[in-house]
Amino acid sequence: MHTVHVDLAERSYPVYIGRDLFSDPQLLRQHLRGREVAIVSNVTVAPLYVPRLRAALGDGGRVTEIILPDGEQHKTLASFEHILERLLADRHSRATTLIAVGGGVVGDITGFAAACYQRGVEFIQVPTTLLAQVDSSVGGKTAVNHALGKNMIGAFHQPRAVFIDTNSLHTLPARELSAGLAEVIKYGLICDAGFYAWLLEAMPRLLGRDDSALAEAIERSCALKARVVAADEREGGVRAILNLGHTFGHAIETAQGYGSWLHGEAVAVGMLLALRLSVARGWVAGDEVRRLEALLREARLPLDIPAGMTPSMFIDLMGRDKKVVDGRMRLVLLRDIGDACIVDDVTGEELEGLLGAAQARAASPC
Ligand code: NAD
Ligand code: GLY
Repeated sequence: MHTVHVDLAERSYPVYIGRDLFSDPQLLRQHLRGREVAIVSNVTVAPLYVPRLRAALGDGGRVTEIILPDGEQHKTLASFEHILERLLADRHSRATTLIAVGGGVVGDITGFAAACYQRGVEFIQVPTTLLAQVDSSVGGKTAVNHALGKNMIGAFHQPRAVFIDTNSLHTLPARELSAGLAEVIKYGLICDAGFYAWLLEAMPRLLGRDDSALAEAIERSCALKARVVAADEREGGVRAILNLGHTFGHAIETAQGYGSWLHGEAVAVGMLLALRLSVARGWVAGDEVRRLEALLREARLPLDIPAGMTPSMFIDLMGRDKKVVDGRMRLVLLRDIGDACIVDDVTGEELEGLLGAAQARAASPC
């Protein structure tokens, strides 16, 4: 087992990465404040992983199971309210600990419920998708979606611990594994050229679900994320680099309806757009586009924007993003591979040129 520490003074916590983490019940129990627990999961993940978590909790305490429907379309205020209602109905006190077992959807909703229940209770993340293991479970961003924007209602609320059992990746659908790989690639692009080079070589093993390659990718990703979050917990500055490709990606997700494109798929296309813009500015060598395209293709991720999405649709949706401050859109670009920067001077002409070319490529791929 490896441990990455997220260093946030009194809100610091460990991220455990290993196999069969719950075979040692003490590891989990030492992070519970009291004997009250509410496990939140969904209909797909619960039958696979909740029984072994319950076994690790042992007898004695009070455990409420809250099982949500599956899917991004259920990352709503209605699901959030359902969790709160169950906690109230079962008379959970402020000493309760919520445990999120699932992907980023379950983790984000549960974290938001924990931030709000009785003005804030503790929670633990047990992420079961690659995307949740390398990104959403670490860093304390919690949220639900609204029809007018993704993740627009939420809070910063750090978990007490994160338990990443790499065994869970063996039941993950291939498309979801690929979506998680997009976020792994993101870390190489934004802050670690050496990791990016490793990914170019390790991708076949990652796709083949080689345990040691996956554990290494997860540990390096979590360590990079922990470093950025420790420097800027509430995204006043540098943390925004973690959003490489996300402003374009959120526009795709919102336009297509939540759940039709996976988050990681939309981020993959968004990262490629951000790289193209960086190349157009003369910051990154043009052959890096070919290299990233080859890597994304190998990871079985999309390269093109959805057919039918016009530049004006993108620009309208991107203008509603959380990263827009005082009417100025902030985008993450690359000065080099492994060196991200945040800019607020991208012009409408630059975006129209970039997205017009992307639309043309989507209309006649190859
Ligand atoms: P998800 O939670 O929808 O999970 C994907 C699918 O895999 C679901 O059908 C789920 O039931 C299933 N699943 C999960 N684990 C499984 C397993 N081990 N075996 C079989 N099936 C399994 O999607 P996701 O990609 O994990 O998360 C996406 C969400 O995360 C988005 O809502 C996004 O906004 C959010 N996110 C949040 C942050 C953050 O910092 N909070 C960062 C990135 C993404
Ligand atoms: N996923 C972006 C962040 O955690 O800041």
